[in-house]
Amino acid sequence: SPFWPGLIEAYRDRLPVTASTPVVTLQEGATPLVPAPELSRRTGCDVYLKVEGANPTGSFKDRGMTMAITKAVEEGAQAVICASTGNTSASAAAYAARAGLVCAVLVPQGKIATGKLAQALVHGAKLLQVQGNFDDCLALASKLAIDYPVSLVNSVNQFRIEGQKTASFEIVDVLGDAPDIHCLPVGNAGNITAYWQGYREYADDGPATRRPRMFGFQAAGAAPIVSGSVVENPSTIATAIRIGNPASWTKALAARDESGGRIDAVTDRAILAAYRLLARTEAVFVEPASAASVAGLLQVAEAGELEPGQRVVCTVTGNGLKDPEWAISGAPAPVTVPVDAAAAAAQLGL
Ligand code: F0G
Repeated sequence: SPFWPGLIEAYRDRLPVTASTPVVTLQEGATPLVPAPELSRRTGCDVYLKVEGANPTGSFKDRGMTMAITKAVEEGAQAVICASTGNTSASAAAYAARAGLVCAVLVPQGKIATGKLAQALVHGAKLLQVQGNFDDCLALASKLAIDYPVSLVNSVNQFRIEGQKTASFEIVDVLGDAPDIHCLPVGNAGNITAYWQGYREYADDGPATRRPRMFGFQAAGAAPIVSGSVVENPSTIATAIRIGNPASWTKALAARDESGGRIDAVTDRAILAAYRLLARTEAVFVEPASAASVAGLLQVAEAGELEPGQRVVCTVTGNGLKDPEWAISGAPAPVTVPVDAAAAAAQLGL
């Protein structure tokens, strides 16, 4: 059928739903898997981008949220809550609005991108800016979900992981098998956990004959999994992954070790370079955190640790329009001209 019904319908037999489950969907999923010729040239590999910014609220969070909100409605919840660096709150606000649920969100004050704040507000979420970082917000949201009648929709909610694993299914469905390597940015570590679960399921009893090696990348100022210890004051321009104590830490280590993969740190400088490269050469505009997957791939290649000829998928997790500040500050200021062809031509160097 040419109609895409959303990922719960598309992968119903692999998700925890029944015929009577009230599906809440915005037709998320079926995102583009775009070939990346410049990255392929630089690495000698066959590189693709899984463009998750094409989801309804502009990030991969919609995959998890269609499942989490569907199950919240099925269980009779009236209200949901999440902590967020911005994308989870945008997605939760939208899916809660669709379902007619109250949505509460806790975000670190002054540390989320403007577009994401706008999304939570426009969809009618009750938003609190917390005087702390994401890790403080998650601890607070978890406590509220225990003490009050409100369901937690962070990725510690297994239904989020179930929804997000469908990205792996889509990749195998398009490529015909799993890639050799899959690269992801890592923050709270839910997504690497979900992808690994999806790849395992499809290799165990599905269309895949093998599993990829999982490569995760954290921002250098917020890299607890790489250093092996909690980062009390995480710092990075990639605010989406500014997390010092990931909830799915041990599951990320399992994904790395079971797959023969790696989890490395990438500097903010490398993240911004990859961000610009993606926009200029592949014509894919992502938010800074999303570029960590590509920065990481290039770093591994430049270290001579990437065997050429492999098939590589990099997930780019969120849309660039959410956080346009870095696009504007990194470009020359626009020139103003009168309504005059000669003046315009002169400025354009024509
Ligand atoms: N990329 C983007 C754009 C994100 O928003 C996030 C997480 C990640 C990568 C990392 O994914 O946490 O599953 O390892 N954002 C969460 C949020 C924390 O609140 O929106 P992860």
